[in-house]
Amino acid sequence: MKKKQIVQLFGLLVFSVSVQAVAKDKNTPLYKDAKAPVEQRVEDLLSRMNLEEKIYQLNQYTLGFNNNINNLGEAVKNVPAEIGSVIYFEADPQLRNGLQKKAMEESRLGIPVLFGYDVIHGFRTVYPIPLAQACSWNPALVEQSSAVAAQEARMSGVDWTFSPMIDVARDGRWGRIAEGYGEDPYATGVYTVASVKGYQGDDMSSDKRVAACLKHYVGYGASEAGRDYVYTEISRQSLWDTYLPPYEAGVKAGAATLMSAFNDISGVPASANHYTLTEVLKNRWKHDGFVVSDWDAVVQLVNQGVAADTKEAAEKAFMAGVEMDMTDNCYQRHLAELVNEGKVPMQNIDDAVRRVLRIKFRLGLFDNPYTKEVKQEERLLLPQSLRAVEQMAEETIVLLKNADNVLPLSGAKKIALVGPLAKNQADLLGSWSAHGRAQDVCSIYDAMTREFAGKADIVYAQGCDFDGENRDGFAEALAVAKNADVVVLCLGEKRGWSGENTSRSTIALPAVQEELLAELKKAGKPVVVLLSNGRPLELVRIEKQADAIVEMWQPGVAGGKPVAGVLSGRVNPSGRLAITFPYSTGQIPIYYNQRPPARKGNQGRYQDIPSTPLYEFGYGLSYTDYKYGTMKLSADKVKRGGKLTVEIPVTNVGGRDGLETVHWFINDPVSSIARPVKELKFFEKQLIKAGETKVFRFDIDAERDLSFVDSDGKRFLEPGDYYIIVKDQKLKISVE
Ligand code: BGC
Repeated sequence: MKKKQIVQLFGLLVFSVSVQAVAKDKNTPLYKDAKAPVEQRVEDLLSRMNLEEKIYQLNQYTLGFNNNINNLGEAVKNVPAEIGSVIYFEADPQLRNGLQKKAMEESRLGIPVLFGYDVIHGFRTVYPIPLAQACSWNPALVEQSSAVAAQEARMSGVDWTFSPMIDVARDGRWGRIAEGYGEDPYATGVYTVASVKGYQGDDMSSDKRVAACLKHYVGYGASEAGRDYVYTEISRQSLWDTYLPPYEAGVKAGAATLMSAFNDISGVPASANHYTLTEVLKNRWKHDGFVVSDWDAVVQLVNQGVAADTKEAAEKAFMAGVEMDMTDNCYQRHLAELVNEGKVPMQNIDDAVRRVLRIKFRLGLFDNPYTKEVKQEERLLLPQSLRAVEQMAEETIVLLKNADNVLPLSGAKKIALVGPLAKNQADLLGSWSAHGRAQDVCSIYDAMTREFAGKADIVYAQGCDFDGENRDGFAEALAVAKNADVVVLCLGEKRGWSGENTSRSTIALPAVQEELLAELKKAGKPVVVLLSNGRPLELVRIEKQADAIVEMWQPGVAGGKPVAGVLSGRVNPSGRLAITFPYSTGQIPIYYNQRPPARKGNQGRYQDIPSTPLYEFGYGLSYTDYKYGTMKLSADKVKRGGKLTVEIPVTNVGGRDGLETVHWFINDPVSSIARPVKELKFFEKQLIKAGETKVFRFDIDAERDLSFVDSDGKRFLEPGDYYIIVKDQKLKISVE
């Protein structure tokens, strides 16, 4: 026997002896001892479980949408006491506590149920959609929003959120682009870490924290042509360069769980992908939590052409590394049989159950299985949470155009407020808004009326609906516009136009909205277009006609207040695009970090449209001006393993305080695997008062920031020249 094996065996013996000793000591099973280490509790419990009990832990059912209090018992009756997890659709803890009581008291071993739910950008206090959050370049606000969501969710009976959604996405036709942090892998990784910290804190057993779930692992954002639920064609190189980095960051940050995606990855579905789920996630990254399938993702392996029936689907997903089956019952129906037939080894079952139990222990569910029932006013829509939403929403707003400084609206006495979104509340919530309610949202109209009280009158006309052929409201809107000093036109998307299963063939707004703008132009007044949407838009025709364009995204319950602040000048916009706005849909996919083309200059360009986007990644205007000083390096050579610093002074030369974000890019012009023209490696946002200069600094760690990965994720740092890029400045450094 090898020395290592003898040591392991000895360790095992000592461990089992100590397990029994502690158990005897307390006269209660070790797993019920709150003071015992989690790993020991897991092993003790696992050793007491039979196969049926183990398999129950690997299944998730649903519970909720039950608005009849008399049926509470009925809903609980239908869920087995031994079930591992449920998706919990309620906003109050009573139903949860009812099922938990059943689990604790009626199952043989008293294993608590894990309650999960889609808390994507808030529970009741709905935050701006994640794509908007990314435009704030303020990860601290993302962490804060996740912490508020966690507090509301946990206090309402939810232990586990199916968030953050960290699929890098570059196709605005795909509706789920709204749920992620944009097109850049590094930025998505930074926001992932912030969000995981906000959800989980340092201690998931706190009654204000939840377990996070990184989804959808992996490559879902590459869904072909923006269609949902389809295949993706992703080379291993792109998988490592683009789609895996945010997951690696999230796993390192301690994310408790991941969700396996619907898409197939070049022929092997993400939910049956041994390479990504086991080789990478468990073996290399050492993730010790569990993977839940997306809804029906196991049974869908049959549709996807890799399993003949539900039994084979269960085998493939489970053996690839999906520990929990969300709702489709394949594991419940087939895992025991697969074990008995020797197709699924018992040690894999044990490993899977161990992972699920570990998270339940870390969440403190064995020791505190019930949620305290406190009044909604004490846990939802707390004043400090509402203030935090507003602050975040202010920083997500991107000023796209401001011809002749038409904004802020200083001298206007009469403002025509027009458009399908002007008095709308529900659509400002965005997709996946959990328990958010339209009535919690301040409409743009109400916000403008309050913001401009005593300064300007707000006159309203709807003009048209979101889509359709009806132009009857145009005349009234034009009359209102003629009578005003300035027109504020609120255009955009309904909340149901983005999110899951909401692909669109074009990212332009419906013709009726663009025509309303053309009609209003006839009034001869400046027109400010406010946009609320869940994807990048094709704005080429709008850009030509609007004097100013403000991208306010879907701000959640903050509604129109932040944008009204931008219009009045109370808020100086500081958002920058985290996603490229193409010139037109035909440019898709277009993103800033493309690899260099074979021919330069005018070759390879579109013949009918420009080849550059309308608004590039990182774009956004302010009410003040910044002057960038000269970038300086601490050294222009660095050794492997070495570090150096690069700094740039930025002066606010305008008349207003402002928040400025510096994006630091690198470029490796010659390498064994071609690198993108530039790659974001660091960003920072600072407040710069009018007249003040702030120094922005990027500490470059050669191994971390200048290296790249091969198609199996191995990191390389090649000697040679690299460039550090900020705006139009470029400095060369050499790696020796
Ligand atoms: C979505 C997931 C979500 C799950 C549970 C699925 O259809 O793709 O993002 O977490 O449903 O609601």
